[in-house]
Amino acid sequence: MSAARVRLLGHPVGHSLSPVMQNAAFEAAGLAVRYEPCDVAPQDLPAAVAALRAEGVWGANVTVPHKEAMLGLVDDLEPDARTLGAVNTVVRAGAELRGANTDAVGFAASLREAGVQVTGRRVLLLGAGGAGRAVAWALLRQDVRELRVWNRTRARAEALVAALDDPRAGVAEAARVGDAALVVNTTSVGMARGGRDPDASPLEGAWPARAGVAVDAVYRPRATRFLRDAAAAGWRPVDGLGMLLHQGAASFEAWTGRGAPRAAMRAALEAGLAAEGNPA
Ligand code: ATR
Repeated sequence: MSAARVRLLGHPVGHSLSPVMQNAAFEAAGLAVRYEPCDVAPQDLPAAVAALRAEGVWGANVTVPHKEAMLGLVDDLEPDARTLGAVNTVVRAGAELRGANTDAVGFAASLREAGVQVTGRRVLLLGAGGAGRAVAWALLRQDVRELRVWNRTRARAEALVAALDDPRAGVAEAARVGDAALVVNTTSVGMARGGRDPDASPLEGAWPARAGVAVDAVYRPRATRFLRDAAAAGWRPVDGLGMLLHQGAASFEAWTGRGAPRAAMRAALEAGLAAEGNPA
């Protein structure tokens, strides 16, 4: 019998670490499943989705630029895909395709794993794109005291805050730490690939000396300028590997109905990044 398949639909897909992580997961779980990157141009997405209905395809991950378009191409949406307005995971159940989003649960799991306590904290969130939306929802589901959202394009921060519709959430006037004890970067500033300046930080001004936590969704490089500056001021740095790992683990669990082999997945990500010259 040929191996079952899970696909990654994106454009481009070449730099994704998901194949390395998910193929390691299937192997560790003893499942004969192949995770295949598929570069799909936007006009070919409907055909690629139709092909997911084929026998032996368990589902897919969805990445840039297809996460929003996928909302209208699946048969049903899980609550988080609806809330976040984006699908990152497709699960085939019989003839049906269900659209899910594992970014918010993945972020929450990464904080739990790192032992980060959010209760009663004031949070500054940088970025109101797809990752920012997922982080915002994940934090408000926990009992943070306050969530201030800053975005370069202010209208996007305003739209996110309006959608959150929570008295704890508001727009931040500047990318300044202020009285926050948890600062999360979801902008692409500081990214080695795709970012304009890999040695830049999205933050304005200095980090106050405080025992807070700084979380970066960026994982290329692991030690971003944002995290290095935070650590130098006494903040605890948490890099983006955890968010990548745990959204992938949640997707694996949705496809297989089994617990994800997180240690094997983490080891594969670490090895993949180290092979690119981006060690921890
Ligand atoms: P993702 O899904 O990864 O969040 P995205 O939706 O493209 O990706 O969002 C990228 C984020 O990085 C946005 O918050 C973007 O700000 P804008 O909404 O103003 O575009 C932010 N970003 C990208 N380049 C930036 C820069 N040079 N300075 C500040 N923010 C930047």
